[in-house]
Amino acid sequence: MLLREAATPDQLRKARKFLAENPVFNVLPLGDAYAPLLGVSKLFVAAERNAVTGVCSVYQPFNRKPSVALSTATPETKRKLLGIALSQVSGEFITLCNHDKVEVVKTHAAVLSLESELQMAANPPKCVKSNVKVSRARNKDVEELNRFCSEQDSRAWTPLQFKVGPFYCVKRNGKIVSAAGTHLKTPQIAHLGSIVTSEAYRRQGLAAACTSALALDLASKGRIISLFVRSNNKPAISMYEKLGLRKFARLPS
Ligand SMILES: CC(C)(COP(=O)(O)OP(=O)(O)OC[C@H]1O[C@@H](n2cnc3c(N)ncnc32)[C@H](O)[C@@H]1OP(=O)(O)O)[C@@H](O)C(=O)NCCC(=O)NCCS
Repeated sequence: MLLREAATPDQLRKARKFLAENPVFNVLPLGDAYAPLLGVSKLFVAAERNAVTGVCSVYQPFNRKPSVALSTATPETKRKLLGIALSQVSGEFITLCNHDKVEVVKTHAAVLSLESELQMAANPPKCVKSNVKVSRARNKDVEELNRFCSEQDSRAWTPLQFKVGPFYCVKRNGKIVSAAGTHLKTPQIAHLGSIVTSEAYRRQGLAAACTSALALDLASKGRIISLFVRSNNKPAISMYEKLGLRKFARLPS
């Protein structure tokens, strides 16, 4: 088995092609394989007889813990990929993975905490009617979006996220009070993130309106819609189900 970092355009193209065969399972390394996240990610590829058999991405935005994501692969390939990927990581990291990957991770690292998340997906999402005025965030909104997402402690947010894809928001008195954004975007799939409404404005249909506008925009280009949500976040799960997303897999992170 050949293990190496994808360094040439051809190696990157082959890695993307492999990941795109299973875009929902591979959403994290696939998203990391596209600009602008590729600029802060490393992609490690396993190959046998010139065919890609697995990929592991290490996404490391500034001032953040690295996020390590393994693709579909045999347990042996995952173990070897993780070994080479973690040789580039010092200290704590985050990884989202299903149960068999947790066992692989444990062969290389100590698990400090485990949270159960669900992946939900729609293809296509439902169109939900709403009277709420939602707007697409523009460049002039980035500072306000940064204030809002930081205040709301939105885990996935970094200003780089704004470059990935659209964010939709609802404003009151010129301030953002609800937002939904794109965490990862490829030709096949879009992974949503930073979905939050200020406490004072909840239960008014704002997050549903923002998320629906966002999901329909991304899906209009044929993309599958995916996201992660904590398994115990019943309000959010209920909202996503109304938008046509279905539970896909449980992922201890
Ligand atoms: C989840 C969250 C974004 C919902 O925002 P919101 O603007 O209040 O949501 P909406 O008013 O659009 O609600 C849409 C649907 O979600 C569900 N929902 C929202 N809040 C709920 C609650 N507290 N209890 C039960 N269901 C709830 C309902 O199905 C609701 O539809 P309904 O009002 O017709 O019953 C908001 O509670 C929040 O910001 N939570 C913290 C951040 C978070 O968990 N984000 C999701 C990360 S994946």
